[in-house]
Amino acid sequence: MTQAPLFRQITDFANRADPYPLYTELRRTPVLHEEEGGPYVVSSYYDIEALLHDPRVSSDAANLAASEDDGLGMGDETGGLPPSFLRLDPPEHDRLRRIANSAFGPPHQPRRIENMRGELDGIVTGLIDGFGDAREVDLVDQFAYPFPVTVICRLLGVPREDEPRFRSWVDPLVATLDPDTRRSADPEFVKTAQESRMQLGMYLAGLVEQRTKEPQDDVLSDLANSRGPDGAMTMMEVLSTAVLLLIAGHETTVNLITNGMLTLLRHPEVLGRLREDPGLSVRIVEELLRYEPPVQIVPQRTCITDIELRGTTIPKGSRIWLMIAAGNRDPERFKEPDRFDPDREDIQHLGFGSGIHSCFGAPLARLETQIALSELARRLENPRLVEDPPPYRPNAVLRGPRHLNVAFDGLR
Ligand code: HEM
Repeated sequence: MTQAPLFRQITDFANRADPYPLYTELRRTPVLHEEEGGPYVVSSYYDIEALLHDPRVSSDAANLAASEDDGLGMGDETGGLPPSFLRLDPPEHDRLRRIANSAFGPPHQPRRIENMRGELDGIVTGLIDGFGDAREVDLVDQFAYPFPVTVICRLLGVPREDEPRFRSWVDPLVATLDPDTRRSADPEFVKTAQESRMQLGMYLAGLVEQRTKEPQDDVLSDLANSRGPDGAMTMMEVLSTAVLLLIAGHETTVNLITNGMLTLLRHPEVLGRLREDPGLSVRIVEELLRYEPPVQIVPQRTCITDIELRGTTIPKGSRIWLMIAAGNRDPERFKEPDRFDPDREDIQHLGFGSGIHSCFGAPLARLETQIALSELARRLENPRLVEDPPPYRPNAVLRGPRHLNVAFDGLR
């Protein structure tokens, strides 16, 4: 039987539960290019980091062929919203990110986030209490999904009870982030994603209009009424930023919490230490972002000029896939990279990306996951996995279990 090209195996669902042996194989070829018109796949830590900082590598949706565009980058020609700043280059990226940043609080002092600590504790306690007398729960549906959704809704000022509505629009958009789905997408799939983005935009427009008239203490109000040194966002910019924050704010964190609990249940000695010392959650979360990163690939990069990398020329206009989860396990960078070790001295991972697009929500995602994991460790008595490996979501970029059934003897 002939093997599929390696780059196609990346998106093959058969590799979802354990993609790491494939990543080891990918790292053997520094710049992997197997098919005319196919992506240039880069898997070593130092190369990925360098490319994330390279101004010759663009994130601009306009530099991607229309067929390769995804739900976060659709341009107006589709009748949708303009691209969010995730899919823009400087100077536009920087202007919009700065305005969005000021809505979250001064850079490096995430005012809104730290102020939310008590609120986050309360939401986590409520969800765990909600397990009631059950002795088995699906941690995804009953905890890891509702937690960050509730948080991002409160932050933005989106009514939590609208979640079933916006979820029906978010799901098709998230599916377009998987590079395989995108390529093989039938026109119906693309149309559904475009309509979903538009519907989500229209839904948010209603909320933004309210906040323009009557500002509240929330991020939508601050985005809508921003008047700082960078001026105001246009209504369309506010909407594409709000779509980005709403989706990025929960579709990633759900996987960090779930991958985290799965990893801890596979490493009961670490789970035991966390139960005794909640402060260990800080190191555990960093190591998880290296060891089981929720965003495995950054596939939306194009080079705007020829780039020489390790003896290969990546021609102008080529698509580059940055395999951050492979870089995180690069033995040239980390000692014993396949070992989950929260005590390692140096955990400078690529889990939040790097460079100008590095994750905007990192302080929030960290805090949410630290609280979630330390509380689960403290409160679940004798937790164990019901199924290992658990069933996975189909997405190769946003990787995580679809369900994580955990049995336990009771709640503390
Ligand atoms: C960017 C990961 C949570 C908002 C990114 C990037 C990564 C990432 C890898 C870089 C993408 C690129 O270079 O193209 C994660 C992970 C999270 C998480 C693993 C959770 C564990 C969040 C949250 C928010 C958020 C909670 C919002 C509150 C953003 C935004 C960007 C971004 C707005 C775009 C930044 C830019 O283009 O300048 N994230 N993220 N993320 N993330 Fe996150």
